[in-house]
Amino acid sequence: MSLAGKTAIVTGAASGIGLATARRLAEAGASVAIWDLNEQAARAAVTELTGAGRRAMAVRADVSKRTEVDAAVRLVRDTFGPIGILVNNAGMSAFNPFMEITEELWDRVMTVNLKSMLICTQAVLPDMLQKGWGRIINVSSSSAQSGAARMVHYAASKGGVIGFTKALAQELAPTGITVNNVPPGFVDTPMLRAELKDRVDQIAAASPMKRPGRPEDMAAAIAFLASEEAGYITGHTLSVNGGRYSS
Ligand SMILES: NC(=O)c1ccc[n+]([C@@H]2O[C@H](COP(=O)([O-])OP(=O)(O)OC[C@H]3O[C@@H](n4cnc5c(N)ncnc54)[C@H](O)[C@@H]3O)[C@@H](O)[C@H]2O)c1
Repeated sequence: MSLAGKTAIVTGAASGIGLATARRLAEAGASVAIWDLNEQAARAAVTELTGAGRRAMAVRADVSKRTEVDAAVRLVRDTFGPIGILVNNAGMSAFNPFMEITEELWDRVMTVNLKSMLICTQAVLPDMLQKGWGRIINVSSSSAQSGAARMVHYAASKGGVIGFTKALAQELAPTGITVNNVPPGFVDTPMLRAELKDRVDQIAAASPMKRPGRPEDMAAAIAFLASEEAGYITGHTLSVNGGRYSS
């Protein structure tokens, strides 16, 4: 699989699933923009990738703010050329009993996890339409497929990502642009460790494969959906969860 000559943006790419995805796309030859709120970690990732002979740049951008996203897209386009691949990965998790979810928290979760998809996708779409080629991969969550207690806000936002994916895939199907989503389930990242702390190993032991997902497991699926070979797949939900949930 080669992505040589492609420009890719990976949001939330300074950590976890996004970082593994940035590494994978860069290994396949793409020029990768590592977008994150954490500029220092994004720069460290770029140092690693460019040190290995890959093409990468760091961009500090909040995916929920249109002015920042539009400026970041211009910077990437000016540096690497028109954007062909967008991985909408940045997100926030939230755990609260239903009756304790405030409207402010609800709005924040929806803005970061769902509205960001609108903003980032609208910002790159003109490049893809002009070329008649594009790959949009959205990171959703298995919580939207299975349900998850204390995650009504989070699961609702990620369910929105799945609906967003299907609807946009239909709309863009004649254009050469595919839109798919990957719902991770229980992946060993800083986000998961922050939430579950010392319970990760215990929960993993009770799972079908007896291990948590690795960021690289997600990256492999995302990279496939970004490839030329996946060009007849659109609107799809590619579950990567070690058998924790089948649909
Ligand atoms: N880890 C899991 O088990 C799991 C399960 C289901 C879904 N997910 C989803 O996978 C995605 C990646 O999660 P992860 O586990 O790798 O988390 P992570 O915390 O390791 O990485 C997330 C990155 O996104 C960045 N980010 C957060 N908000 C941002 C914003 N507004 N703008 C730009 N960057 C922002 C953070 O700075 C961080 O570097 C998220 O969308 C998450 O909801 C993860």
